[in-house]
Amino acid sequence: MVDAPEIKHGLEGVYFTESGICKVDGINGRLYYCGYSIETLAGNSNFEEVCYLLLNERLPSASELSVFRKSLASERDLPDEVVMVIEKLAKSSDEMDVLRSAVSMLAFSDKDAADDTEPSNMRKSIRLISKIASIVAATGSVRAGRGYVRPDPSMGHIENFLYMLNGSKPKDEHVKILDTMFLLHAEHSSNASTFSGIVTASTLSDMHSAVTSAIGTLKGPLHGGADEAALQMMREIGRPEHTVKYIEEALAGKKKIMGFGHRVYKTYDPRARIIKKRLEELQGSADEEVRNLTNIALAAEKLMVDRIGKSHGIWPNVDFFSGPVYTDLGIDIYLFTPIFAASRIPGWCAHIIQYLRENKLIRPLEYYNGTLDREYVPIDKR
Ligand code: CMC
Repeated sequence: MVDAPEIKHGLEGVYFTESGICKVDGINGRLYYCGYSIETLAGNSNFEEVCYLLLNERLPSASELSVFRKSLASERDLPDEVVMVIEKLAKSSDEMDVLRSAVSMLAFSDKDAADDTEPSNMRKSIRLISKIASIVAATGSVRAGRGYVRPDPSMGHIENFLYMLNGSKPKDEHVKILDTMFLLHAEHSSNASTFSGIVTASTLSDMHSAVTSAIGTLKGPLHGGADEAALQMMREIGRPEHTVKYIEEALAGKKKIMGFGHRVYKTYDPRARIIKKRLEELQGSADEEVRNLTNIALAAEKLMVDRIGKSHGIWPNVDFFSGPVYTDLGIDIYLFTPIFAASRIPGWCAHIIQYLRENKLIRPLEYYNGTLDREYVPIDKR
């Protein structure tokens, strides 16, 4: 009998490829996109420039960025059949299911759909970055009874997103905050959704199929769905003074606290640190709901860090603080995970394009631990 191989459950600790797109340093709590630290990018760059950076692995010149922004703006409008599906489903279906179906449908009207050369995949990436934001905004707008608001090509990507979502020109401050949220979520190495997109692409399927796979993977509460789950928990807690009792009971009952813990970070997630700064500003918010959620989030974070942060390496991740920030921007909970997808799409596309340059079918092994040569008993004798 051959010895059982060592099995890496959840592929933990397994390297499957090389890439210069993203470095997650989970020991020191550092994150870099193409060599630039996340703090540098959050302080100086913006989501559109970061999309260019991830797809090209270098920052654009002013004229390159201008052309890139115009390309994004020109691709925003959605095909009629996609708008119809959103109008039919947005009020009655899970928003990630709407997004997954709408992205799949985009392939039917994309003239490059069947062309998987790199220039074609780059063009499709720009369309997907642009149109996924429109799908998410349209879903929110239709659900709120405003219908499909056509994009405004004179606006930047995030300003237009908020415009399509709310039907009115957003405040500059809101655009800036949401831009930072998009930038912080844009890329994260071989996370589950990026990996599933690469697995699909590695069969030489196509970009829309790969991104559809990634969206399905992002949906789960262990991944992109954690931000919704964290806000739901804050709502259940209700008041800041109930936080300690709630968290203590949850931990005693071995319940996971969503928005904490990470496969790679064994210290504070640097993205969470940046979002926490915004929360500290929101403590003084005039809106009672936002102030309340913010104080619950900060109380929960303090307790968790004291109780299991240092001892168990379970720290806040990017999803923990998003809820109060999005609530302050007037964004409903059901759009949190779709917004994560609209933010992560440049990372998905960049990795898919890069992996295809030296493609190798991804096909791991599983160790068979069943019996062999079982006797087949006819159905009437079982
Ligand atoms: N609250 C309480 N305990 C936790 C938590 C948590 N959030 N996360 C992990 N643990 C415990 C877990 O119960 C286990 O304990 P024990 O060894 O006693 O059974 C131990 O820590 C290891 O957990 P694991 O789930 O086996 O470890 P993992 O590397 O597979 O987990 C994780 C990573 C993100 C799935 C997990 O930390 C988790 O479920 N967190 C909550 C969901 C979440 O916030 N997900 C978003 C991740 S970051 C954004 C993204 O990439 O999408």
